[in-house]
Amino acid sequence: MSGEEGRDAADAAPRSPKGTHDVLPPASSRWEALIARYAVLAERYAFGLAHTPAFEDARVFRRGIGEASEVVGKEMYEFEDRSGRRLALRPEGTAPIVRAFVQHHPVTPWRVWYVTPAFRYEQAQAGRYRQHHQLGAEVLGTEDPDVDVEVIALAHDFYRELGLTAFTLRITSLGDLTCRPAYLVELSAYLEGVEGALCDEHRETWRRNPLRVLDCKREACRAATEKAPRLRDRLCEPCETHLQRVYEGLRAVGIEFHEDDRLVRGLDYYTRTTFEFTGTSLDSASDALGGGGRYDLLAEALGGPPTPGIGFGTGIERVLLACDAEGVLPVVAPTAEVFVVDVTGGAVARDLVMSLRRAGVRAERAYDGRSMKSQLKAADRSGAPLAVIVGPAELAEGTVVVRDLAAGSQATEPLAGLLARVASTGTMTGAAT
Ligand code: HAM
Repeated sequence: MSGEEGRDAADAAPRSPKGTHDVLPPASSRWEALIARYAVLAERYAFGLAHTPAFEDARVFRRGIGEASEVVGKEMYEFEDRSGRRLALRPEGTAPIVRAFVQHHPVTPWRVWYVTPAFRYEQAQAGRYRQHHQLGAEVLGTEDPDVDVEVIALAHDFYRELGLTAFTLRITSLGDLTCRPAYLVELSAYLEGVEGALCDEHRETWRRNPLRVLDCKREACRAATEKAPRLRDRLCEPCETHLQRVYEGLRAVGIEFHEDDRLVRGLDYYTRTTFEFTGTSLDSASDALGGGGRYDLLAEALGGPPTPGIGFGTGIERVLLACDAEGVLPVVAPTAEVFVVDVTGGAVARDLVMSLRRAGVRAERAYDGRSMKSQLKAADRSGAPLAVIVGPAELAEGTVVVRDLAAGSQATEPLAGLLARVASTGTMTGAAT
């Protein structure tokens, strides 16, 4: 993919903004395949499709994701509309789904999947974009740990069905309002003691979000937090029982995982089960294939009744990078089944492609009254196995020539016969679909 914007000279042709990409044929056929496979799987897991707006009242994200998070603090595309409303382009898919849940109060458990663009003002690099796209799923209205297992299994099975094997699942619990506040006090006291040894960034910011320090990849923070107290050892009994039930469920359905007591994700709404799939074939700077977790306090934060929830999101671009690295999901752009060549003025081609398409056949044609030679070249380039050719003689007789473009063989047949056959079978070759 390419496409650096520029703050080009005023008269230069505008380009796609920095950190965004055009997805065009034939490469876009992989996007279609990926989304279609996810849709089938999500529906097999009994999720229904939800579409929410690309922009929301900015409070949905400020309250939902948290003011202290990088996503809200540094990366959100926030703006005022022409009437002075404070809006934001969605940086992620969960808070809007919970906002919709609170607004429409559907019957619970509410299970929805989505495919959506997400916007974050990040340092653009390979695998990290300012507009990326996520496939995701959310379940609202149940705390049952079996649902945690189902959501993780949906992500896992999606990767597996694509043919991916180079990924690992890390999982932990971020506790709840009973056990986390006391832990944060303890962690903060510890960090105060080692402040001087933290990396430059976290020496400045640890007070705002002490948990993030544990997730820092820099050696200084790693070493300084080696002996830091871990929430994993201080979970209250209900959180511990919940986590053990999730582990038990994952083992029962054959999903391998690693406990990771440093895992802290970049969004502040998580409680209890939190997980991330790491793509081991991806660049380490952007190797999160997907992630998610519980957000049992989010509905309340958005003005709704207390409602537990869990979900996950996975980046389409990252999944495709992983597919490239593992050599799965090749680009298979659909080609036409038949190319219509008409050198009698174009009216036959106009009507014939319509009849073919309405019967279910993928049909292409040439335009602009090109020569026979030029149209046959276009037919070859199209990749269609068959051409239907109409010249003055065929027009006069009500016939067409059907040519096998690979073999070079051809036969003449009545146009009416061809149309009847295609209409009854839905294919050019005559076999019923
Ligand atoms: P997230 O981890 O921020 O979680 O994003 C989910 C996935 O989106 C990442 O694992 C990654 O594959 C992809 N992604 C994120 N940022 C970028 C980027 N700048 N460029 C390319 N890909 C990116 C969420 O967004 C949560 N809403 C997930 C969730 C759902 N939690 C509960 N329910």
